[in-house]
Amino acid sequence: MPAKVLFTFFGASGDLAKRKLYPALFRLYKSGHLAENFAVIGTARRPWTKEYFEEVVIESLGELPDNPRQAAEFASHFYYQSHDVNDTAHYQSLKKLQDELAEQYFTEGNKIFFLSMAPEFFGTIAKHLKSEQIVDGQGFERLIIEKPFGTDLETAEQLNQELSEAFDENQIYRIDHYLGKEMVQNIFAVRFANPIFEQMWSNQYIDNIQITFAESIGVEERAGYYDTSGALKDMVQNHTLQLLSILAMDKPETFDEHAIRQEKIKVFENLRHQSDEDLKKNFVRGQYAAGRINKHDYIGYLDEPNVSENSQTETFAAGTFFVDTERFKNVPFFFRTGKRMTEKGTRVNIIFKPTENIFGQEFEQNVLTIYIQPTEGFSLHINGKQVGTDFNITPVDLKFRHSGQATANSPEAYEKLMFDALNGDSTNFSHWREVKASWALIDRVVKLWKDNTVPLHTYPAGTMGPQAAFDMLEAFDTQWYWHPDEWYREHGLLD
Ligand code: BG6
Repeated sequence: MPAKVLFTFFGASGDLAKRKLYPALFRLYKSGHLAENFAVIGTARRPWTKEYFEEVVIESLGELPDNPRQAAEFASHFYYQSHDVNDTAHYQSLKKLQDELAEQYFTEGNKIFFLSMAPEFFGTIAKHLKSEQIVDGQGFERLIIEKPFGTDLETAEQLNQELSEAFDENQIYRIDHYLGKEMVQNIFAVRFANPIFEQMWSNQYIDNIQITFAESIGVEERAGYYDTSGALKDMVQNHTLQLLSILAMDKPETFDEHAIRQEKIKVFENLRHQSDEDLKKNFVRGQYAAGRINKHDYIGYLDEPNVSENSQTETFAAGTFFVDTERFKNVPFFFRTGKRMTEKGTRVNIIFKPTENIFGQEFEQNVLTIYIQPTEGFSLHINGKQVGTDFNITPVDLKFRHSGQATANSPEAYEKLMFDALNGDSTNFSHWREVKASWALIDRVVKLWKDNTVPLHTYPAGTMGPQAAFDMLEAFDTQWYWHPDEWYREHGLLD
């Protein structure tokens, strides 16, 4: 059944709306999840007309529509209202438009509000939505909110308080777009539909877990935001810890929102609050310097436009988390993430403990790799016997990669998340208790870094981060399993 709903986008002229949100809605339209009974109100400061807004929407769809008529029909559901978030009168006209469209499109009062603009306005908007009765108790009313959810625990708590005056926790959908990714969802299947992994998913068999979110791009045009944020807040407080929670959670009693959330929250609330001394050792920060990879020179972060001259912002972070549940006590969860690394790649390596060695020769540890992007799939690194008269143990990789076709058809993260929000399923969104627990820990690392008690290392653009991030694992008697830079070095494409 196609949904009946009115969307209101705050930040309708923004980059995210054009790059992700309109195409995501269009995919839902194309697959029949949205049909006649939906409309979209776009709001932003700019004085656009409906016609111009429709053009913007159509342009954002690129090659997705089958024909121009289909694109135009879709865009005809879009309405625009120029809006100053602080002006009460504007909310009154928004309310009027909302009521008209609800009648015209028979949306039964169902509403989804999407905030994708500067976070300092989130609270004001929520307040006005309530006071001007845009949130009026008719139909379902859901608020989707983009990151960042606060910039530390204090601002997150304040924002949450403001939102809670208009919306209950179960109406708030905090986006973490990684949770919409196909292979992140697939972790549930891998873990809970395969007894071979399910049995072994604990500190009894797992040595350590390594999460890499590498990006080859620099800060692009986002330095204004990024320079005030840095890798820890941009990627770790949210995406990394969310992914970690799915890897570390206990098996939910049933595969539903309530049970999954309960288990995830347990992970967040059991993140070890390491001593300051340990946090200094177990978290590393870095900033990219100029570098050359693949015959291309890249400038350093400090020379990027809009980055402050003496910026201490980290473009790379690595660290070690512990989850003090019975299942994972004392298993290090290593992560690293950064801009201008060797190549774009998000993957998880689960390193299993060695078995008792009866062979009198060395052999490698088993490793399960989950490829999240750009490749999607798994591989299992095991040991076999080399063909021949001698008994030599040799590593073998069992690999499964999604076909190009499956990857092309896999839903975009935003499409999946919009679909879930339409269905009132908040499994793949961040719960307040998760956000709160992650800020409580991240704030402590931020403070140590701000106080300059931990060095800010540099790393040449194109590499996998500073040496300190490698030393961090050495201290645990292990090393990073994935080395994309080696290939470039062997081919003389990286010094
Ligand atoms: C965003 C960060 O949340 O995630 C960006 O703000 C980062 O800095 C992006 O580039 C990475 O997402 P993806 O889906 O491209 O891996």
